[in-house]
Amino acid sequence: MRHYSIAAIPADGIGPEVISAGITVLHALERQDVELKFEIETFDWGSEYYKKNGVMMPEKGLQTLKNFDAIYFGAVGAPDVPDHITLWGLRLPICQGFDQYANVRPTKILPGITPPLRHCGPGDLDWVIVRENSEGEYSGNGGRAHRGLPEEVGTEVAIFTRVGVTRIMRYAFRMAQTRPRKQLTVVTKSNAQRHGMVMWDEIAAEVAQEFPDVKWDKMLVDAMTHRMTLHPQSLDTIVATNLHADILSDLAGALAGSLGIAPTANIDPERRFPSMFEPIHGSAFDIAGKGIANPVASFWTAVQMLEHLGERNAAALVMASIEHVCSKGILTPDIGGTATTADVTNAVVAFIESTIKRAELA
Ligand SMILES: NC(=O)c1ccc[n+]([C@@H]2O[C@H](COP(=O)([O-])OP(=O)(O)OC[C@H]3O[C@@H](n4cnc5c(N)ncnc54)[C@H](O)[C@@H]3O)[C@@H](O)[C@H]2O)c1
Repeated sequence: MRHYSIAAIPADGIGPEVISAGITVLHALERQDVELKFEIETFDWGSEYYKKNGVMMPEKGLQTLKNFDAIYFGAVGAPDVPDHITLWGLRLPICQGFDQYANVRPTKILPGITPPLRHCGPGDLDWVIVRENSEGEYSGNGGRAHRGLPEEVGTEVAIFTRVGVTRIMRYAFRMAQTRPRKQLTVVTKSNAQRHGMVMWDEIAAEVAQEFPDVKWDKMLVDAMTHRMTLHPQSLDTIVATNLHADILSDLAGALAGSLGIAPTANIDPERRFPSMFEPIHGSAFDIAGKGIANPVASFWTAVQMLEHLGERNAAALVMASIEHVCSKGILTPDIGGTATTADVTNAVVAFIESTIKRAELA
């Protein structure tokens, strides 16, 4: 038996809807492969927990999570709790506490989805964005002085370290190396930000020497939005800072059809701690409780989780199921369909189960 312990943290808004759909799919995989077993423990941490306890997760939360093989996360954010409390109270302490420094965000146009760009179909947009996930603009460094007075000041200090930039650069070059085009675009803003960003460019050039088989180029982040929109075919793997990649990956999700399909993996490449897998989207309280949240992002991040756990066949099967279901037009309203979360989940499960039947007939 191959056993994996998974900590599920559905958290807020549509998080519980899409994570419960993802767990249904993981259980379908167990039926498809009787040697595979997921032991899933669900934690009720999030905004409701905060309203009762004054904290988003217990003080020993990280200690509790440390022994799991992976974390399957929904989303945080509630209309009546400030966003910086929800984010800094749960998601960021996990990413930073477990040094999940590589945030991997694949995007492609799935069959059956009409993207907003004319003349751009499956195959024309197939990217992996690698986001630095431990420092930069989200280092948490800064402060407020003269609170409430007219001279009040707030600082937000971006921190870039040679160690931090070098390790993410190596990760991105390695990622590019595994993809057929072996192509990497390094994004910065080194014209206006002349310290940390210039260091990024210099370190990219140094690390590139270790990867002579990878073609690479540089873009300023503003020009990058233009290239992503007008020449999506010219890009493959992309590496950028915490903030820049955060913004670019929402754009990537939208260009591929919807934020509801975009996944992300917060990886500790050294495997000292569990890595965390989640949809890119937030808690989407505008559609929470309506049963129409697109579960594809949470299925796709489960694919990333299975790959990380070494379950390549199961990962490929879930990806094939997603592509099959989208190509059949079983789509939620955000991508132009009328299907519910449950319809999409049932269709994915049915595809997985049909492979069991095919295997039995063979
Ligand atoms: N990783 C996270 O936990 C995370 C990420 C982003 C935003 N947030 C939080 O989420 C809350 C809402 O933020 P927001 O509205 O800016 O971003 P959002 O991603 O929640 O929603 C943006 C838009 O996309 C739609 N959308 C998102 N996911 C969808 C899905 N699966 N299916 C269908 N439509 C989907 C929403 O309905 C909304 O119109 C805020 O509190 C914010 O701080 C959390």
